[in-house]
Amino acid sequence: MTEEDVYSRLALLRTNLDRWSYEYHVLDQPTVSDADYDEAMQELLRIEDAHPELVTPDSPSQRVGASTAQTTFAKVEHPVPMLSLSNVFDRETLLAWWGRAQRAAGRETMNLVTEPKIDGLAVALTYIDGVLHTGATRGDGYVGENVTANLKTIRSIPIRLKQADDYPVPSRIEVRGEVYMKKSDFNALNNRIMESGGEPFMNPRNSAAGSLRQIDPRKTKARPLSFYTWDIGYLDGFPRPDSHYDTLQMLIQYGFETAPHPMRHQSIDEVWERCEWWLGQRDELNFEIDGVVTKIDSVYLQDEIGIISREPRWATAYKFPAIQKTTQVEDIVITVGRTGTLNPTAFLAPVNIGGVTVRRATLHNEDEIARKDIRIGDTVVVQRAGDVIPQIVKVIVEARTGNEVPYSMPQLCPVCGTPTVRDEGVAMRYCPNSACPARIREGLHHFISRGAMDIVGLGAKLADRFVDLGWIHDFGDIYDLPWDEVAELEGLGPKSAENLRGAVEASKERSLGRLLAGLGIPHVGERNANLLARRFHSMQRLEQATLDEVLEVPGMGAIVAQSVVDFFANPSNQHVIEKLAAAGVNMSDGEPASDEPGPLTGKIFVLTGRLETLTRSEAEAMLRELGATVSGSVSKKTSYVVAGDDAGSKADKAKELGVPILSEQDMLSLVRQA
Ligand code: IVH
Repeated sequence: MTEEDVYSRLALLRTNLDRWSYEYHVLDQPTVSDADYDEAMQELLRIEDAHPELVTPDSPSQRVGASTAQTTFAKVEHPVPMLSLSNVFDRETLLAWWGRAQRAAGRETMNLVTEPKIDGLAVALTYIDGVLHTGATRGDGYVGENVTANLKTIRSIPIRLKQADDYPVPSRIEVRGEVYMKKSDFNALNNRIMESGGEPFMNPRNSAAGSLRQIDPRKTKARPLSFYTWDIGYLDGFPRPDSHYDTLQMLIQYGFETAPHPMRHQSIDEVWERCEWWLGQRDELNFEIDGVVTKIDSVYLQDEIGIISREPRWATAYKFPAIQKTTQVEDIVITVGRTGTLNPTAFLAPVNIGGVTVRRATLHNEDEIARKDIRIGDTVVVQRAGDVIPQIVKVIVEARTGNEVPYSMPQLCPVCGTPTVRDEGVAMRYCPNSACPARIREGLHHFISRGAMDIVGLGAKLADRFVDLGWIHDFGDIYDLPWDEVAELEGLGPKSAENLRGAVEASKERSLGRLLAGLGIPHVGERNANLLARRFHSMQRLEQATLDEVLEVPGMGAIVAQSVVDFFANPSNQHVIEKLAAAGVNMSDGEPASDEPGPLTGKIFVLTGRLETLTRSEAEAMLRELGATVSGSVSKKTSYVVAGDDAGSKADKAKELGVPILSEQDMLSLVRQA
């Protein structure tokens, strides 16, 4: 082929592939077979392989997702925060929201738009000159993770905006929406997972979340994800449409899909009627919705009505009640958690709840089983709501035949046979053997997890394989894996092994707080781990700390402090920490010199109202330790007001001055990131 031929062939292939993808994924009207699509894609890949200089970021080939050596996701700051929504639960609370919006807007009538609330994950897609540049998860609303390569594998996300009839190409636009998994795709995926002996995902949302966070985009591509847009974050280059409804129409012209049937209304009665209609639809849809979002249509009025502590007052979500179905309890099975707790799970006759097959429900603990008198063989009412694990609501006692078998918790650990213990006043029974293989396995899953050492690419299943092969006995062994043999494992290969090794190496740099969170010290989760790291700065100093010194940490209770001291006094824990240190895992956060600026230096906080988990002085100490100034009164200079319960005039003043108001949780997440 001449150079010219190559150019025109590439252009033709790309145009066709983009169009076919749009017809298939957005319009649901394919015009070519899958085989034709694949053939064209293969040809494109062959040409691009031979001419790497001609690969463009918007080429459909980028959807295949070349594997990168990346081991974690970079952070992305959202230029416009991604807010959350207030909830309403019935007609009455919807009317109350409407009243507040009317008062804030200073008018009685306004157009409204309703759309289904998709149960997925919010992402923000930045397009520069019409080409997808960055895609980020919502994260905490201010900072998300850069998952561009993975988002590019989703066919209903345009890599290049389509030519719109009524709008030019914006110089920059941020499109927001929900990544979700269709129910049919979810059920098929779970069937595949179970056929290969794996653990099924709990619900489509979890499954979508897991898929989006795969480090290898080819894995994401193998997971069927979809995207619906619901708004823009910002638009540069021309004025944005005046109304929300028109914004959605513009996005459709650019090649996006909105969830079906967004609708404009002129009264709140129409809105409520629509909410009830959607409730009746939810089982029929091939995607999960957990409610209906209502938005004031006029963008001008949205601005007038404004935002209150991270929630726009111009929008709200009507949350559906949980869906219930009846089924049978086939068995009750115990798993042993990382702290030794015996967790009972009901295995159910598979039941379709709202289009999703449910096979398990949590039973919490033995008191719960006794209180609800759940027996093996019982007919029970099961419910699932949003993201929570399915629950058994009640037993249908009238359906009993007399063959049901009452359940009693095992007196011996089902994994290691050690007699189980139940402390007085505590609902959980546990296995006290810290060397119980189940505890070790669960502890390992926790250590590598996202909130701790975040070893991306080392999932629970692979970690279990390493344990089964005798390669991992404790956390230290993760850093001494036989990499040549890892590369030879079935289903892995040299490239994946290399990526995994990179991820393991990268985890050595995790902060002291994360390491402490990962060690599994009883009662020490992320929050307490960070408090300890901030106070002691190094593992060595923490190991030597006395009970009184640990108790001095603001926010540290007596039970937690005792547990910390006990943990470090235990020789087997000391041994693991030595192994980790010898492997080069970071053991300190480096103490900032007293005049060195902290991450919150220059920020002025005002605390008001009753906080839930911290006392006022603990919160102040925590902020000061990071360099922030804590002041008693709100002014224009105030960076944030942290408002607890019964926050009074200070919160009002903040609203008046436009100072951001944080909840206690917001403040803690800010502190965690600092
Ligand atoms: S609008 C100002 N519209 O619900 C907030 N959100 O609970 C803008 N969601 O983070 C949200 N479907 O992830 C909006 N049609 C829809 C939605 C939707 C699902 C999610 C979104 C948001 C969360 C808030």
